[in-house]
Amino acid sequence: MLEIRSLSAGYGALNALEGVSARLPAGARLGIFGHNGAGKTTLLRCLVGAHAARAGEVVLDGEPVRPGNVAATVRRGIAFVPQGHNVFPTLTVAQNLATAGLLFDGGFAGEVLRIFPLLEERRGQRAGSLSGGEQQMLALGMALMTRPKWLLLDEPSTGLAPVIVRDVMSQLATVSAAFGTGLVIVEQNVPATLKVVEHCLILKSGRTVFEGTAATLAAKPDLWEWF
Ligand SMILES: Nc1ncnc2c1ncn2[C@@H]1O[C@H](COP(=O)(O)OP(=O)(O)OP(=O)(O)O)[C@@H](O)[C@H]1O
Ligand SMILES: [Mg+2]
Repeated sequence: MLEIRSLSAGYGALNALEGVSARLPAGARLGIFGHNGAGKTTLLRCLVGAHAARAGEVVLDGEPVRPGNVAATVRRGIAFVPQGHNVFPTLTVAQNLATAGLLFDGGFAGEVLRIFPLLEERRGQRAGSLSGGEQQMLALGMALMTRPKWLLLDEPSTGLAPVIVRDVMSQLATVSAAFGTGLVIVEQNVPATLKVVEHCLILKSGRTVFEGTAATLAAKPDLWEWF
């Protein structure tokens, strides 16, 4: 269970998050939406302990996530894929996976390559020469090397062609089904994300303005009033 308890956070005088809460049972899939500056990235950073909340807390399986030690949070089972291409460009695909799994079971790379046959084909290729979609797939594979219970993704579709976005989303669904991994996906592409997540939050100026199922949100004609 991953619990977000009345979380408030900010930077200096700015409040970026105010009283955001959610309770996610193991394996849940949550989408977080909202306009630019709504606080989505700040929320992910609090979840992984990269940013200290001003009030409230994040609790993983009954124990608080303490800020300031992201590596410890990753070892407890929360992996974070920040926005952008998070790969080592001069290392090969296989070396990237091995590096990501250094503190874990390196043998798991075989499992990751089975899920992503395209990475298997490219295993000897330098990551910097992969396409944007392939690099995103590799970043996802690297996050999986830490055997996470929870996978946090900040705008995984950024810069990808629509057909590749569909692939990335279906890979996330595959990963979640194969390993029971919970997903927390921050996205601007709401329709694509609604195909993968079950629950959603919409943030506006740091506050939750919608909380409900993906089906409810998909059926809402006035969805855009929150953006
Ligand atoms: N390091 C920082 N220092 C000061 N202010 C920050 C910092 N990071 C974010 N902010 C501010 O906090 C607010 C929330 O930012 P955040 O990055 O969480 O938004 P977001 O919802 O992820 O936006 P986007 O969709 O543009 O990525 C914004 O007003 C932003 O300017
Ligand atoms: Mg952001």
